[in-house]
Amino acid sequence: MTLKQQQQLEETYVMHTFGRKPVELVRGEGMHVWDDEGNDYLDFIGGIGVISLGHCHPALVKTLSDQAAKLMHVSNYYYIEGRGELAKKLSDLLNLNDKDDQPEPWQTFFANSGAEANECAIKLARLYARRQREAAGSTARPQLIIVLERSFHGRTCETLSATAQPVKQEAFSPLPTEKLYVPVPANDVAALEKTFAERGDEICGMLIEPVQGECGVYPCSEEYLQAARRLTSAIGAVLIFDEVQCGMFRCGTPFGYQHSDVQPDIVTMAKGIAGGVPMGACAARAHVAQVFEPGIHGSTFGGSCLAISAANTVLDTIAAEGIAQNVEEVGAYLRERLAELPHIVEVRGLGLMNAAEFDDAVDASAVVAKALGSGLLLNATGAHTLRFLPPLVCTKEDIDTLIARLNDLL
Ligand SMILES: Cc1ncc(COP(=O)(O)O)c(C=O)c1O
Repeated sequence: MTLKQQQQLEETYVMHTFGRKPVELVRGEGMHVWDDEGNDYLDFIGGIGVISLGHCHPALVKTLSDQAAKLMHVSNYYYIEGRGELAKKLSDLLNLNDKDDQPEPWQTFFANSGAEANECAIKLARLYARRQREAAGSTARPQLIIVLERSFHGRTCETLSATAQPVKQEAFSPLPTEKLYVPVPANDVAALEKTFAERGDEICGMLIEPVQGECGVYPCSEEYLQAARRLTSAIGAVLIFDEVQCGMFRCGTPFGYQHSDVQPDIVTMAKGIAGGVPMGACAARAHVAQVFEPGIHGSTFGGSCLAISAANTVLDTIAAEGIAQNVEEVGAYLRERLAELPHIVEVRGLGLMNAAEFDDAVDASAVVAKALGSGLLLNATGAHTLRFLPPLVCTKEDIDTLIARLNDLL
């Protein structure tokens, strides 16, 4: 079917929630994807930070084909191969920088998306606070969650409430629980201290993207993450890191927060975790996770055979192929080369999660549209901002091609 035919069908039969680029992609390999006419594109958005191993990595293709032929889904009523192993791998990665000789394990709930992982984290934070108060003989029910201005945590009603971007909330306002989320400016320790001083009794947790992604790649400072840890610990609230975008080696380290010395209580992940197969995960320290008991939370598809096998292969392949080191090296090279572009004002990011901010002369959406014609898949997060989330196997040669083509466009 041609692009035009697809466009006509979608116009009538698919909800118009995305403004799609005029291209029909049919095949991929590594950093490359091809359209229905055989045109080749270098992919610098990687399915919005999902394609960790590159498109159609042979190890992942083999795992999925083998697993599909063996067992696809049986539900969470049963044990399956690989789920426990995957959860242990995540626990070990989360404890990588923990200074404790025998750090407490993490327990994971498997979901299907980032929003669902955050839903789980929010429910866990509220229930944990409630159980703590009950144990102390109190009837208090702290429910407030502190979030950062310009945050992005998903599109369900609850995670949209946590997403402190009025433009995204407006159509649904008032959201049923929007008053339970208190936005504070990122990296402003004084403002955070003031909020905790004023509303400490009501707060059950703080939800932070250690590197804010959707609003244009803004890393939180170490000082700020430390302050969040100190203030949440002081009132027995949990510190939740939303690593949906910045986790899973996107920033070089297994999780973005591991560029700091701070240890959270709950970590959510999704996107790159299963290399293109839908999966979300919410991991919590065992003493927090244990407030969940059978029947209290669930998912039909979460943690089913295909996604579990894919995620195990993604983590094993990242380790076997030294991909974390590639992310550090190529990411540094990307930032260096972006800084040479005309009209550039600022380059931000860690590993292979980066943004380039241009001056007013550059219309980022126009650049994205033109780039398609020169074989680049790019993404604009603001009027003058491009975001880069390529597959983690991106090479310096790919960066050179990107910069040469961008130079021509700009
Ligand atoms: C930091 C962050 N959290 C949550 C989400 C929501 O993830 P999903 O679209 O898989 O629900 C996203 C998606 O971009 C994200 O970047």
